[in-house]
Amino acid sequence: MRILSVDDQDENRYLVEALLTGNGYEVQSAANGAEALDYLQNDTFDLIISDILMPVMDGFELCRKVKTDERWRHIPFIVYTATYTGPQDEAFSLKIGANRFIVKPCEPEVLMEAVNSALAAARNGDASQPTDLPREEEVFKLYNERLVRKLEQKMLQLEKETAALREAQEALRTSEQKYRRLHESMTDGFAYVDMQGYIRESNEAFCEMLGYSATELSKMTYLDLTPEQWHLQEQEIVDRQILVNGFSNVYEKEYRRKDGSIFPVELRAFLVRNALGEEEAMWAIVRDLTERKRAGKIQKDLENQLHQAQKMESVGRLAGGVAHDYNNMLSVILGYAQMGLEKTEPDSSLHDDLCAILDAAKRSAAITRQLLAFARKQTIAPQILDLNETIQGMLKMLRRLIGEDVRLTWIPAPCLWPVMIDPSQIDQLLANLCVNARDAIIGVGKITIETNMIAFDHEYCTAHAATKPGDYVMLVVSDNGCGMEREILDKIFEPFFTTKAFGQGTGLGLATVYGIVKQNSGFINVYSEPEKGTTFKIYLPRHTEPVTTIDKESPDIMQRGRGETVLVVEDEPSILKLITKMLEILGYVVVTARSPVEAITLAKEYRTAVDLLITDVIMPEMNGRDLADVLLAIYPDLKCLFMSGYTANVITSQGILEADVHFIQKPFSAMDLAAKVRKTLEEEV
Ligand SMILES: Nc1ncnc2c1ncn2[C@@H]1O[C@H](COP(=O)(O)OP(=O)(O)OP(=O)(O)O)[C@@H](O)[C@H]1O
Ligand SMILES: [Mg+2]
Repeated sequence: MRILSVDDQDENRYLVEALLTGNGYEVQSAANGAEALDYLQNDTFDLIISDILMPVMDGFELCRKVKTDERWRHIPFIVYTATYTGPQDEAFSLKIGANRFIVKPCEPEVLMEAVNSALAAARNGDASQPTDLPREEEVFKLYNERLVRKLEQKMLQLEKETAALREAQEALRTSEQKYRRLHESMTDGFAYVDMQGYIRESNEAFCEMLGYSATELSKMTYLDLTPEQWHLQEQEIVDRQILVNGFSNVYEKEYRRKDGSIFPVELRAFLVRNALGEEEAMWAIVRDLTERKRAGKIQKDLENQLHQAQKMESVGRLAGGVAHDYNNMLSVILGYAQMGLEKTEPDSSLHDDLCAILDAAKRSAAITRQLLAFARKQTIAPQILDLNETIQGMLKMLRRLIGEDVRLTWIPAPCLWPVMIDPSQIDQLLANLCVNARDAIIGVGKITIETNMIAFDHEYCTAHAATKPGDYVMLVVSDNGCGMEREILDKIFEPFFTTKAFGQGTGLGLATVYGIVKQNSGFINVYSEPEKGTTFKIYLPRHTEPVTTIDKESPDIMQRGRGETVLVVEDEPSILKLITKMLEILGYVVVTARSPVEAITLAKEYRTAVDLLITDVIMPEMNGRDLADVLLAIYPDLKCLFMSGYTANVITSQGILEADVHFIQKPFSAMDLAAKVRKTLEEEV
């Protein structure tokens, strides 16, 4: 059985053909009425299925031609149409001889049923020969009506379609614009990479990150932008994640900029497939990690610095606690050794022994002093001073300390800002730094001391813990000695950390320096490179008031008393005994008390006779300051000298002596005591 199928649309023809062939029919397809007529001329068919609206010749005309031609009128004709079908179309079709009228789309069974029944009817000889075909004029009239109507509908449909198309285009444009804007405004980089690795598309952020233009990038692959050592890892991510899952986890790598510099990124990539499901491209969101990594490092540095500071703090507290008792004992050892020395002949063996004791005690005292300095428990008397002048005055001593093989260069900054600091602390700072520098130099070398001025802004200070914005005077000590490895550098400020042989160093030098700098609200930085040398930079806050006159050191001769009465209060009997002895030798009348209460009782007895009170600061019952206040009520002219083994808040504020308070630090020598007592007694009220 041969069937002629007529339709202008490819997929319609294809569907009908497939259906009919599948049911055992032979099918010839034609694209319009005219073509169908050609086939009819040269071939025989058992059935015609035709659409209505077609170019060149439509279905109505074809039907009319078939049904009015003797050769073909017996062939069953099925109208199969979808376009704007109304009941009039069916009526007209049947009127001009069509045997069936089916509306598209229909179920395959419906079409097959129509085909089979039309064929069966034809075999029976009916249906295929319409008896009363309408007259020509009537057909034309109806035909025109149908056609006009259909065209109107077609127009309407087209208009609707155009509007929909326009809408779709508009929507597409907006969405594209949105996408563009997003793409361009993204602070993260975006790259669209084909399967060969070429960067087909990239946004501004990506270009900026890498320093290439989008055009330059389009000629490069992502591997061209990636340092060699990341290639293997990235290939694995492509193979094991992107190609398998369609996307990767977030991963880190590095890129190389156009200028050759390398920077860290974090990225995630996705796979794009085409309509057939084939791998077409990959796209990636790339974030520059330079800033984050930097912030992370700063955070870590800050944590380390904080940790270090806390460690120092706790060692400091411990040191301060021990120093009190330790200094009392040292005072006794020092004092008696000194007095014993004065009683022996210089060539006796006892004299030598006592010298050795004195020596050891002095060294011990120096250690406690350093510990206290580190613990910031050293009682200090800061002055406003010009660092240049102070250092100038120390150079001779420093040169002696350093020795002849090492050259000392001094570079003072002109017009240096003043600082507020106890000059003896500058002594300690420079002595420690210079001795360390000397020890770091094997053979000949060079040490440089410099001063300078510098201002720190907020930005610098957020990146460096323990700094505060402001103006600073900088003291730099550098050497070209052996330098230090990182591991050593991390520990140098810890008390008792030393790399020196046993007996060569206690490891307190830099701990002292650290404590002094902190006590004066400054900070310290170290730069060191093995084999090259080391530089210490100390920053002391600028003081805004001008420099005042510096107190002259006490003269080097023992200042004797003139029979004044001194009341000594001390709860530690051995010290009390020692001081009494010292004062008596110096020519004072001494009254002693082992406690504040005893002192008050004695004072009342002696009336008019007491000139000076020397009292310990920290005692049970009552502190030295309060005792002085009670006694001053009895003797308004009484002079007071406080003594202590470490800083005591009653007479100091944060370790800094209150103005016009006289103080002597334990342990002290007879010479120190003599000078302080005289100074206190002679001060104008
Ligand atoms: N200028 C420097 N060059 C190289 N290493 C140094 C320098 N300054 C200090 N160091 C290292 O730091 C360590 C600690 O120094 P610190 O001054 O605290 O103690 P010390 O010199 O060993 O002993 P002390 O100063 O108590 O006699 C030293 O042992 C040394 O290893
Ligand atoms: Mg040292």
